[in-house]
Amino acid sequence: MSDPRELYQQVILEHNKKPRNFGKLEACTHHADGQNPLCGDEIELTLLVQAGLVQDLKFQGHGCAISQASSSLMTTAVKGKPVAEAELMIEQFREMIRGTLDPAKDANILGKLSLFRGVKDLPSRVKCAVLPWVTLHAALKGEETASTE
Ligand code: FES
Repeated sequence: MSDPRELYQQVILEHNKKPRNFGKLEACTHHADGQNPLCGDEIELTLLVQAGLVQDLKFQGHGCAISQASSSLMTTAVKGKPVAEAELMIEQFREMIRGTLDPAKDANILGKLSLFRGVKDLPSRVKCAVLPWVTLHAALKGEETASTE
C-alpha cells in the first residue's frame, strides 16, 4: 500500500461503505444544509459546540463516494477539536484542493485528510470533496445553508 492513489481509493471506498458519524444529533447548537447544485447532492450537518470545542458532529444526506468519504473523514478529523482548529482545517483543505497548499511541503494540520490532495487534478470532483467543508464553514458561522458554487 505504498501507492498514494491506491491508498486514496481504498480509504474512499471504505468510508463510503461505512461512514463515520453518520446521522443527526438530537441536541445540536449548529446546523447547516449544504448542496452541490451541479449534481443536486446534499448533506445535512449537525454540531454540538461547547466551551469553544466541537464536542460532537454528525452528517447525513446523499451523494457520491467522494462527498460521503470526505464528510466521514471530516467529522473524524474535527470531532473534539477547538473551533479555531476546525476553521484552520477548513482553510487548509480548501487550499489543498485548489492546489495552493502542498501537504508534502507546506506546514499543515491535515493529517489523513491529505489523501485528498490528488483531487486538485480532477476538476469534476473538486466540489464533491469540498461539499462537507463549505457546509461546516457555514454551520460554524451560524448560517443554515451552504453551496459549493
Ligand atoms: Fe454530487 Fe459528487 S457527484 S457531490
